[in-house]
Amino acid sequence: MKAAVTTTARYLPEKILTNKDLEKIVNTNDEWIRTRTGISERRLVSDGQATADMGSAAGRLLLERSGYSADEIEVIIVATVTPDMMFPSTAALIQHNLGARNAWGFDLSGACTGFLYALETGAKFVESGKYSKVMVIGADTMSSILNFKDRNTCVLFGDGAGAVLLEPSEDGRGVLDAKLHLDGSGGKFLYMPAGGSLKPASHETVENNEHFVHQDGKAVFKIASKGMADVSLELLERNNFTGQDIKLFIPHQANKRIIDVSARRCGFTAEQVVINIGKYGNTTAATIPIGIDESVENGKLEQGDLLLLAAFGAGYTWGSILVKW
Ligand code: UT7
Repeated sequence: MKAAVTTTARYLPEKILTNKDLEKIVNTNDEWIRTRTGISERRLVSDGQATADMGSAAGRLLLERSGYSADEIEVIIVATVTPDMMFPSTAALIQHNLGARNAWGFDLSGACTGFLYALETGAKFVESGKYSKVMVIGADTMSSILNFKDRNTCVLFGDGAGAVLLEPSEDGRGVLDAKLHLDGSGGKFLYMPAGGSLKPASHETVENNEHFVHQDGKAVFKIASKGMADVSLELLERNNFTGQDIKLFIPHQANKRIIDVSARRCGFTAEQVVINIGKYGNTTAATIPIGIDESVENGKLEQGDLLLLAAFGAGYTWGSILVKW
């Protein structure tokens, strides 16, 4: 038995922040952002809106499209690094918003690889035979942890959510293989220093801007380009596929140049690669499920197609998952 992705959905907040808008608040320019990252604009939550709202909106649409009632969902897994609060979990807030009375669930912190960690986890639940309807959500409100005075980071990220439903399949469709990695020695290159048990919020942590994303962009760029390409290629090779066998490559959207390296190394043509970073920036755990849902909407996926997912992010975390649609 395999775990098939049977339904997909996404939610993007309405508010758009363009590169031109950013030019007015920080010392940057549209040309730099577009050529160095591929980003033209990103979405931001409105006042009072947070990760659980976006995840619930994607979850509601997922239910509507699946035809199932909220009661039928058994597990909700939410990949996020921007939970509404430390506890209860974002999964609990979403479970309540959806009225999914029979579901249990939890949050999973895998940063930009979070959705892949959650998909692998959810797939194992389904493959075990114990669960038959698992909702996997990737959602992040990156704007809540961005320093809009730091041009090195504030231009890169956006807010959004994506969701998929995993169900058992007996016909070969589903998650075929996954290769996931974790290397905590990379922690210091991309992190949020305060707000956890090590450095609880204080006047000092706020004054020192320690509740924001801190990134050594150059260091992360180098290792992300290699790591995402290596793991994508490894997964293809160990399943005896080449780039030509894959219908779509849906990578994490951190930087178009990082995606291009993986695409080149795996031998993908431009038509095979899903790139939407221009519209949304880096939505962390949400990039891949948003990319999957857009591909479904655009009619790019047919039953039996092979799909390769890949990501690299804070931790360091990285990995790739092969799916038969
Ligand atoms: O998803 C999680 C994983 N994260 C990533 O994968 C991100 C990886 N890193 C990157 O994508 C890239 O390193 C960045 C897009 C963050 C930066 O691109 P870069 O080509 O590595 O630029 P850089 O950091 O080396 O900066 C080059 C120059 C610097 O100026 P000087 O020192 O050469 O005078 C920066 O200060 O560009 C400057 N710069 C900017 N200029 C205008 C940095 N940010 C900006 C900006 N606008 N927003």
